[in-house]
Amino acid sequence: MNQENGDIVSPSPAIRLDGVSYRANHTDIIKKVSGQFPTGNITALIGPSGAGKTTLLKLCNGLISPVQGGIYIEGKRIEEQSPLSVRRHVGIVLQSSPMIQGTVQANLALPLQLRGKTLSEEQAIATMERVGLPTSLLTRDARELSGGQKQKVSIARTLLNESKILLLDEITASLDPSSLQEIEDLIVKLKDTEKITIVWITHNLEQANRIGEYFWVMVDGQLREVGTKEEIYASEDEDVKRFVKGVLS
Ligand SMILES: Nc1ncnc2c1ncn2[C@@H]1O[C@H](COP(=O)(O)OP(=O)(O)OP(=O)(O)O)[C@@H](O)[C@H]1O
Ligand SMILES: [Mg+2]
Repeated sequence: MNQENGDIVSPSPAIRLDGVSYRANHTDIIKKVSGQFPTGNITALIGPSGAGKTTLLKLCNGLISPVQGGIYIEGKRIEEQSPLSVRRHVGIVLQSSPMIQGTVQANLALPLQLRGKTLSEEQAIATMERVGLPTSLLTRDARELSGGQKQKVSIARTLLNESKILLLDEITASLDPSSLQEIEDLIVKLKDTEKITIVWITHNLEQANRIGEYFWVMVDGQLREVGTKEEIYASEDEDVKRFVKGVLS
């Protein structure tokens, strides 16, 4: 990682987009977006509602395909990799995490089952510890967990997939302040100790301010500003200025 002029420039970005556009229902939703998510950093992806943030994350793990441009995961074009391997490598966690019927252990076993493997007792216990959940929850009905606990199980599933890149879409939006803090701490810990690259969409600019090391600001399907907090704050784009006014500091 080079840091030149305060700008974070990753020589080998986790994800790079090159002129990416996406259309649906005759509408341009993502418009020629080029940029990168630096390896081993938390990028806060911010912007007004409808800016195209969720659509961008779906493009980055191959759930949808661009109509134009290229997406590279660790230097390799997404289309040249199998959809399963992309989805394994690039995990995604959403605002609410659906649990399958059954115990927490059964939910943790799911990603391994999809690869024809089984979850050992030791692996289940170690994974619960990695995400800060008591192992006594392993035998509980997953659908009875609290919102924060479900988010941790969902993060645990990506760890069992050995995802090296984690895309987070508003994962704390429906949590109480103490669960929110726990999830923030967990993600920062995973980034620090396991070198996982994080792209985190949040509407909460105070949260972006706390966790973001690099920022993407999207407005109207375009990437209007990227960089460090200082660079975003110094943006000359009127929409960016209005959006971050007084909050990132
Ligand atoms: N399949 C689709 N067909 C038509 N329009 C779509 C489709 N998917 C997304 N859009 C539109 O594209 C725009 C961007 O949507 P997206 O969900 O990516 O925004 P967002 O930045 O995540 O917004 P929010 O902050 O509210 O979650 C919106 O206007 C949305 O209505
Ligand atoms: Mg969204």
